[in-house]
Amino acid sequence: MENNENKKVIFSGVQPSGVLTIGNYLGAIKNWVSLADEYDCIYCAVDMHAITVRQDPAELRRRTRELLAIYIAAGIDPEKSTLFVQSHVSAHAELAWILNCYTQFGELSRMTQFKDKSVKHADNINAGLFTYPTLMAADILLYQADLVPVGQDQKQHIELTRDIATRFNGIYGDVFTVPEGFIPPSGAKIMSLQDPTKKMSKSDTNVNSFVTLMDKKDDIIRKFKRAVTDSETCVRFAEGKDGINNLMNIYSCFTGKTHAEIEKEFDGRGYGDFKLAVGEAVADGLAPIQERFDKIIADKTYLDDVIKNGAQAASYRAQKTMRKVAKKVGFIAK
Ligand code: TRP
Repeated sequence: MENNENKKVIFSGVQPSGVLTIGNYLGAIKNWVSLADEYDCIYCAVDMHAITVRQDPAELRRRTRELLAIYIAAGIDPEKSTLFVQSHVSAHAELAWILNCYTQFGELSRMTQFKDKSVKHADNINAGLFTYPTLMAADILLYQADLVPVGQDQKQHIELTRDIATRFNGIYGDVFTVPEGFIPPSGAKIMSLQDPTKKMSKSDTNVNSFVTLMDKKDDIIRKFKRAVTDSETCVRFAEGKDGINNLMNIYSCFTGKTHAEIEKEFDGRGYGDFKLAVGEAVADGLAPIQERFDKIIADKTYLDDVIKNGAQAASYRAQKTMRKVAKKVGFIAK
């Protein structure tokens, strides 16, 4: 591990509960890669959050390993950043319990993700789903994170984390760093290919609405061919052209071209050409990641090692905060 002293700490997590889409990649993981030199980065596969909805155990294990392999394949170097599995560091559950006692029922009741998931999983509104945000606060506060890169949908949870940290510090002195969200502008959001007014989601029942990181070239091209656009024929970024705007954003992310450059490139050409170009750019962009992923996932010893070292490094850091917190709230020393 490099000397990370004096660098600001970044913490983020992804649930290993489903396939990752290019939305997850472009909105999160891709940006994390560029942060590694400037920041002390900690990335976590949050398997404890995942079980707030029912999971198949074998599947969850597989997806957890795959998620770490994807982090590495996408360019996050486990020698530079800490990669680990949440359930391997027991301090997460311990701090979450303590924070539960400093969080109000009313605050958790107002969380929109809880309300949404309660509707979606009406037969399993468990206490873990309700206290999901205090576990997330524990994830972040354990590592004294300064910055937390997340999507728009997690903004409310970051606000709550800040409230909890500020409240705790108000009672006991400066125990926690109060973190800032690092939230991309809403324009950077990747939308569904079938309904470009909705966020691209891995849980969408229509598989043509999203592209996963593991999709093969033919499937990617087909999905972009079928993408919903509009009745114009001109490739330009404009209000009301949600489908084309989304495709332009995706193309821009994979090629580095600006909207103006894209408009020029496709001046006088139809949507068919453009969609094919987007599909090819995405497939070409994902190919090296897929290749590295296949190698990493096949190398069990290597991945086991990363997981073990990550858990050790994370535990060590988490314990520091835990000891402070335990003392503050009045637990006797171990
Ligand atoms: N709740 C986040 C999501 O669904 C995942 C998450 C859990 C997370 N703990 C975190 C993100 C801590 C950032 C920091 O996207």
